[in-house]
Amino acid sequence: MPVLPVFSTTRTQIAGIPVEDLARQFGTPTYVYDAAIILERLSDLAAFDHVRYAQKACSNLAVLDLLRRHGALVDAVSAGEIHRALAAGYKADADGSATAPPIVYTADVFDSEALDLCVEHNIHANCGSPEMIEQLGRRAPGRAITLRINPGFGHGHSRKTNTGGDQSKHGIWHEQIGHCLEIASRYGIVVSGVHMHIGSGTDLEHLSQVCAAMEKSVAEVGASVTSISAGGGLPTVYRQGDSYVDLSAHFGLWNALRKRIEERFGHKISLEIEPGRYLVAESGFLVAEIRAVKRQGAHLFYLLDAGFNNLARPILYGSHHPMSIVPRDDTVRAERTVIVGGPLCESGDIFTQTEGGFVSPRDLPEAEVGQLLVIECAGAYGFVMGSNYNSRPLAAEVLVQAGRANLIRRRQSFEDMIRGEVIPG
Ligand code: LLP
Repeated sequence: MPVLPVFSTTRTQIAGIPVEDLARQFGTPTYVYDAAIILERLSDLAAFDHVRYAQKACSNLAVLDLLRRHGALVDAVSAGEIHRALAAGYKADADGSATAPPIVYTADVFDSEALDLCVEHNIHANCGSPEMIEQLGRRAPGRAITLRINPGFGHGHSRKTNTGGDQSKHGIWHEQIGHCLEIASRYGIVVSGVHMHIGSGTDLEHLSQVCAAMEKSVAEVGASVTSISAGGGLPTVYRQGDSYVDLSAHFGLWNALRKRIEERFGHKISLEIEPGRYLVAESGFLVAEIRAVKRQGAHLFYLLDAGFNNLARPILYGSHHPMSIVPRDDTVRAERTVIVGGPLCESGDIFTQTEGGFVSPRDLPEAEVGQLLVIECAGAYGFVMGSNYNSRPLAAEVLVQAGRANLIRRRQSFEDMIRGEVIPG
């Protein structure tokens, strides 16, 4: 199991490079990713036959390229993510012969562009609705697909990240497998695998319940199944006291299930896992500058040049991210109880809040305007959920590898931001 991180409220470097240097070179706010952490997390999962990266967590081309070069397959949830996978060097499975398709499109619907891409490039579809099977069948009969099954229960770090049960729109309802097989057989479609993903940021107890549900669904689909996917959802460590899931126990449960299925059908079953957060969360640091230190009655605020336009997890889910101040010198500063917020014209633009929008002050070292503050464990669902709210540009992204910091996305310019807008003549 990975060694638990120790979070500190001060930080001088990221991946061996002084934070001050990174800020000077790339400006703020900037996302900095440490490639070594991503690769370490990937190697934690080596027991599985295939690790399929859920790129929605952080889809910069350089991150995709890094993971591809180290053997990860990729999941795409939109036409845009299929294009990204292709642009990062993943091959379309043109003749359908790959034992595990390099790119899988997992969704509950096909929009017309995604359907066109899947048909033209023979991208494997992991179907989350009967309609997807029907629509693909009409265009490309005879294909192999997998079924994403909603087992009737789910779990996540927030209600908004639970993707199972009857309050969730995701997946084919477990009682509709027979109906889906009928549609598939009408078009000569082969169901080659079953996939379940019950939610993001869940725990071992819930993840292990999926094995039993998977066994039942696979039995119903039958011997055409050659692969199973445990989905994503592995939690990561966001605060002191959190722990990693026991990965060998997790793999053990899935491997035992795989063996039972192999015995039942008399052929090999490949076992996939589909993490997003686990691979990239800890690698990402959002470097921001403190632009105001403001007292409002009883409360002290550190206001940054980064807001929920850069990192939306606190306002969306009340998520906790570790934070650290970059000291200017060796003087030890007293800690202050502060609320950390951004520049946006909206009261919810607070990084220290709990679900429901309750402000939750944090102890951080005394700091001045101009000092840097680092929001940590921000690599997953950080940059990708950014927006141009308040007409603020998307942040820059930097990947540090082997001691070198490379710009992997230029900060958006004003011209980038208004590209495509038209004032009618
Ligand atoms: N596979 C499927 C089908 C998924 O829907 C997801 C996440 C994953 C894999 C990857 O899950 P992970 O391993 O990252 O937990 N924005 C939220 C998370 C939304 C997750 C959506 N689906 C957050 O910031 O926590």
